[in-house]
Amino acid sequence: MYEERIRRPELMSKVMTAAQAARLIKNGMTVGMSGFTRAGDAKAMPLALVERSRSEPLALTLLTGASLGNDSDGMMANAGLVARRMPFQADAALRRKINTGEVMFIDQHLSETAEQLRSGDLKEIDVAVVEAVAITADGGIIPSMSVGNTATFAQQARQVIVEINLSTPLALEGFHDIYLPVARPHRGAIPLLTPWQRMGWTAIPVHPDRIAAIIITDSPDSPSNALPPDEETDAIARHVIRFLEGEVQAGRMGPELRPLQAGIGTIANAVLHGLIDSPFRNMTMYSEVLQDSAIELLDSGQLSMASASSITLSAAMHEKFLRNLESYRERIVLRPQEISNHPEVVRRLGLIALNTALEFDIYGNVNSTHVGGTHMMNGIGGSGDFARNAQLSIFVSKSVAKGGAISSVVPMVPHVDHTEHDVDVLVSEWGLADLRGLAPRERAPLIIEHCAHPDYRPQLRAYLAEALKGGGQTPHVLEQAFDWYGRYKREGSMLVK
Ligand code: COA
Repeated sequence: MYEERIRRPELMSKVMTAAQAARLIKNGMTVGMSGFTRAGDAKAMPLALVERSRSEPLALTLLTGASLGNDSDGMMANAGLVARRMPFQADAALRRKINTGEVMFIDQHLSETAEQLRSGDLKEIDVAVVEAVAITADGGIIPSMSVGNTATFAQQARQVIVEINLSTPLALEGFHDIYLPVARPHRGAIPLLTPWQRMGWTAIPVHPDRIAAIIITDSPDSPSNALPPDEETDAIARHVIRFLEGEVQAGRMGPELRPLQAGIGTIANAVLHGLIDSPFRNMTMYSEVLQDSAIELLDSGQLSMASASSITLSAAMHEKFLRNLESYRERIVLRPQEISNHPEVVRRLGLIALNTALEFDIYGNVNSTHVGGTHMMNGIGGSGDFARNAQLSIFVSKSVAKGGAISSVVPMVPHVDHTEHDVDVLVSEWGLADLRGLAPRERAPLIIEHCAHPDYRPQLRAYLAEALKGGGQTPHVLEQAFDWYGRYKREGSMLVK
């Protein structure tokens, strides 16, 4: 059954159960697991490690590409076996452990982890656990629905555990482009001039001696948990499309736009979905995750190709995608996240970056990660890699959260992920603020009048008027700047009654 997936005969002797393979992982080790936004994650080893942690102490540093599926992050966190976690997560149970201080979470730009491992800035990976479609005759590992940091983990780890997943079609071979930059300082430019270019291998080269165990699995990826578009996300999409039409009319870009990047989550997916009703044609994507909306645009023919590091789809779209895999072969490239998110490449290609903010302030600083300024939501992910380097950096958010009790437009964000210098355009369901070439004093009225919910505009106007009295390049009343968070805690709403 799995013989055709292990094409180097001597590796057949490495096939074992997950429980046996888990013995290779010892307390205190650093483990690098495949998996990026629920796609291509190791399925059996997290369960085996949870089981093992019941009978002996196991505290690990766990690195991945991004978030894991199958509740693995939550189960491992609840079992107490995750001492340190990086660079991204999106799990409610793990989030709780991070926010109580039980798990040390290092929230990191997704392009950076591989670079830091290569430079020795992080402790090296002891064991890599990677999901694969197959192992080639020369020992190369063919990843499944994501590449993420898998190539770096597999190449650096002293031992590699491969999970061959029988539910992944062999036809995925050829979708990946494994290219890793060489160590600094003798590195040339990454030779990527277009989103569709291929420059690496289709499998991760690993010396067969380092493949310590092979586990056979057959569980599929967890489906995406992005919600369908709603009235507000439709309105956000319309504002973005009208703005991009203006860019085309002004001659700043052609009808194919610039390569698109769209962040994780419900809102970015919905905005991209809205492009189906747009006049744009022959678009390309250079992103880190492909959600349902990207496949819809490929199917409608508006998107000519898409490059990313993972494919995370709803159950129905996943099934359809695998059924029609051949039709996407020439149109999808899966790359290491170091390349999909690489600042040099993002700047060169001149992307339109579309990411979601939890909240933004009247000057355009964006908080993507910390609820109320203190509590981790998911992490910065790739948003910083793209926002700082894109040609156009757009942040979208609904104007209010929690039924209107929280305004997503505030006087001053209590945590900054993207500074005003990295943000070109802000959008809510009420409108769009084009901040390019504007000074902070010009930005504030635009953001308040175009993006804030009408209920909150009087409060924001009053704050700005008070702040302007004190003068400054970026006027604030520091004694009041965070009052809104106190009011929410005390009264259950940021709105002044
Ligand atoms: N304060 C507190 N909570 C807020 C909030 C605010 N200002 N704005 C939104 N939220 C809450 C929502 O109420 C919702 O909570 P719930 O899950 O309890 O319902 C949650 O945040 C998610 O918001 P939603 O409106 O559904 O948006 P989303 O699914 O698109 O996610 C982010 C938004 C910001 C959490 C998500 O995009 C993210 O993690 N971004 C950072 C990483 C990133 O941008 N990566 C991009 C490259 S892939």
